[in-house]
Amino acid sequence: MLECAVRWAAPVDEPEMRALLDDRERERYDRFMRAEDKARFVTGRFLARTVLADAVGLAPQSIRFTTDCPHCGGTHGKPRLPGSGLDFSLSHSGDRVVLVLAEGAEVGVDVERESDRDIDRLAEMVLTAAEREALNAMDDRRRGFHAYWSRKEALLKATGHGLAAPMTAIHVSSPDAPAEVIAWEGDAAVSPVRLADLTPGPGYAASAAVLTDRPLRITETRFD
Ligand SMILES: CC(C)(COP(=O)(O)OP(=O)(O)OC[C@H]1O[C@@H](n2cnc3c(N)ncnc32)[C@H](O)[C@@H]1OP(=O)(O)O)[C@@H](O)C(=O)NCCC(=O)NCCS
Repeated sequence: MLECAVRWAAPVDEPEMRALLDDRERERYDRFMRAEDKARFVTGRFLARTVLADAVGLAPQSIRFTTDCPHCGGTHGKPRLPGSGLDFSLSHSGDRVVLVLAEGAEVGVDVERESDRDIDRLAEMVLTAAEREALNAMDDRRRGFHAYWSRKEALLKATGHGLAAPMTAIHVSSPDAPAEVIAWEGDAAVSPVRLADLTPGPGYAASAAVLTDRPLRITETRFD
């Protein structure tokens, strides 16, 4: 069994949370125009720092993340805590912020607020032909689309590719079936991988991906 800790939080923006940001994070925080974007960002980094500090036995202010992009050498890549043996992933949408943490395996998480996006147009960019057919047969296409989306984005966040890799190269199970990868082609493809749907509450879809063949034991808790 691989233990996978999921922490949910609501976005808030308090001075003691901002105080933990490092210089580069502070610059990013300052560049966000909207208060809700600032809150989602600062809450995510606070959640990650607090949970990781606890896991490694250090003070939160001493936790420094790397964010190297393997493609261009820039600093917008997957946040990591090198040397810890731990991997984590953050996601935020609407009034949900979520962190997934595991030891010894790469993890990815994604939460999506269900919105009135143009599903037919987006489905062309996100889903395989078989998935589009399955979606069209669903009663709640909005829920189905966001479930597909969050599963695929969680996978691409586990590998660190993010949306730089095509979602249409991944074929996942139907939203009504247990989450699993059916097929994955292309450079970003990895195996073995485990996929699980999370419980973000009504109006949201969320999934976690873990690059392991071990069965997952997922514990979801609220962080207050
Ligand atoms: C990662 C990505 C999918 C996030 O998309 P999103 O739906 O807007 O946001 P989410 O809330 O789900 O996730 C954001 C979090 O993912 C994490 N993240 C950023 N880049 C990541 C990556 N490459 N892999 C995994 N996680 C990543 C960060 O923790 C970020 O939170 P932050 O704002 O606190 O830093 C998107 O930013 C992306 O595709 N980035 C990579 C693009 C890229 O590499 N292009 C090539 C450049 S050379």
